[in-house]
Amino acid sequence: MLGTSATAARSLRALGCRSFSNTAGHYPNKASVNAKHWEKSWGKDQLVAESSEHVMATWGPGANIRGNPVLVKGEGIYLYDVDGNKYIDWTSQAVCSNLGHTMPDTVKNAMMHQASTLPFVYNGFCLTEPRIRLSSLLSELLPGDLTGFLFPTSGSEANEAAIRLARRFTGKTKIINQYRCYHGGTSSSLQATGDFRRNFNEGTGGSGAVGFVKTMNATGSPLFDFGATEAERSAKALAFLEEQIICEGPKTIAAVMMEPIVGGGGTYMNPAGYMEGVRALCDKYGILMICDEVLVGFGRTGKLWSFQHYGIHPDIVTSAKGLSSAWASISMVCVRQEIKDFFETNASGWGSTFMAHPISCAIAYENLKYILEHDVLGHVRDNVAPVIKSECERLAAKFPSVSNQTRAVGAFGCVDLLDPRTGKEVCDFVGSFNSHPDAVNTFKSKLRENGIFGLVRPPRFHVAPPLIITTDELKDGFARCEKALEVYDSMFK
Ligand SMILES: Cc1ncc(COP(=O)(O)O)c(C=O)c1O
Repeated sequence: MLGTSATAARSLRALGCRSFSNTAGHYPNKASVNAKHWEKSWGKDQLVAESSEHVMATWGPGANIRGNPVLVKGEGIYLYDVDGNKYIDWTSQAVCSNLGHTMPDTVKNAMMHQASTLPFVYNGFCLTEPRIRLSSLLSELLPGDLTGFLFPTSGSEANEAAIRLARRFTGKTKIINQYRCYHGGTSSSLQATGDFRRNFNEGTGGSGAVGFVKTMNATGSPLFDFGATEAERSAKALAFLEEQIICEGPKTIAAVMMEPIVGGGGTYMNPAGYMEGVRALCDKYGILMICDEVLVGFGRTGKLWSFQHYGIHPDIVTSAKGLSSAWASISMVCVRQEIKDFFETNASGWGSTFMAHPISCAIAYENLKYILEHDVLGHVRDNVAPVIKSECERLAAKFPSVSNQTRAVGAFGCVDLLDPRTGKEVCDFVGSFNSHPDAVNTFKSKLRENGIFGLVRPPRFHVAPPLIITTDELKDGFARCEKALEVYDSMFK
């Protein structure tokens, strides 16, 4: 601890900050903080120094982000760093910048209009036009009687709210989730998560979030095979799930909550018949079905909602990223009429200060209208999807270090990196924050050198560019990835 405060004191001196030791008597004003905060721009060296002193990393250790590019500009599908390097945004950041990095004028104007008329009010006390309009438009974009809306600020928060609503509506506690799904970084959403990140709740006294039961993914896993055909996999996974429901007790289970297409886990479709089977089991046992569309909603998979690939209607849908194309911190929980009616006379029991922020709602509303007016879904279906699919397959055919199990749906692809000497995945996704083999680190730096800014969570290498990418830009991007793969492949020879 002594070492830590000594380092802090050293860095304060190095940065020319005034020491702030008398907390009770300190009333900061302009004169008491460093004049640099009134300088128009900071040079790269200063940005890097300040960042290593003060900026913490999400998920991984801070050391992981030292040396990351400092981005200063975005335009279309491209990003520019402080050194003037230009990158293709190969995964739309965290699969959220669905319209890329040029905000349409309609969105900009709506944002400015809202900022100059009513920049904020607390939506617990009042209603606003952007919130009402957004709810109304969304009710036309969801099927059946999915008609009631809440607007939290992140995907995790949307899932927290969905879990709360499901529990309060049913009066039951347990939520069934799949192992390889991700549902968020907050307490319950992380406990609902099945991938390696859930372990961050352990060793810290646990999350305190109880009542989460895991089921196997119907896609199976490298260690657990549900069968060779989709029909077999569905049947076995559904039998497994039904047995779990009976053993846990249907009267204790509020909801089954799943990603209809597993996103961050590696673009996995559920086998044909599985989601329909889950819907049927939910109906049979009086359990709600929650679809987490946080990452894939609003067109990523070529349909507005990924559950449309299976023709089912969930009871609750959560989504976030594409709702505003990441230009505002806004997410969505949508519930069926019966649930909305229930909460007309019962407290929802969920709230947050910034929910349905008027500026965020205005941005989301115009973002959705842009997607509709410019037929972004049609572009994904007709132009983007075929290229992603064929290029992923081409890379798999060319490189022994790429698995032939490529997956692609809409503007969403994933290839798995192998160790070609063994034919096995180069490292284990379950321990993805462990250190990676040199070849993977080299692959990542070669991607950057070739102007690709993307998400590599080995062995998964994701392809999820902004939905507005052209076919020429896509082919250019794949050619750059190919150069990085050539180096990766050669490292095993
Ligand atoms: C399927 C899914 N659910 C929930 C989340 C959490 O969203 P957020 O990071 O906005 O809290 C994510 C984030 O990637 C996600 O992919």
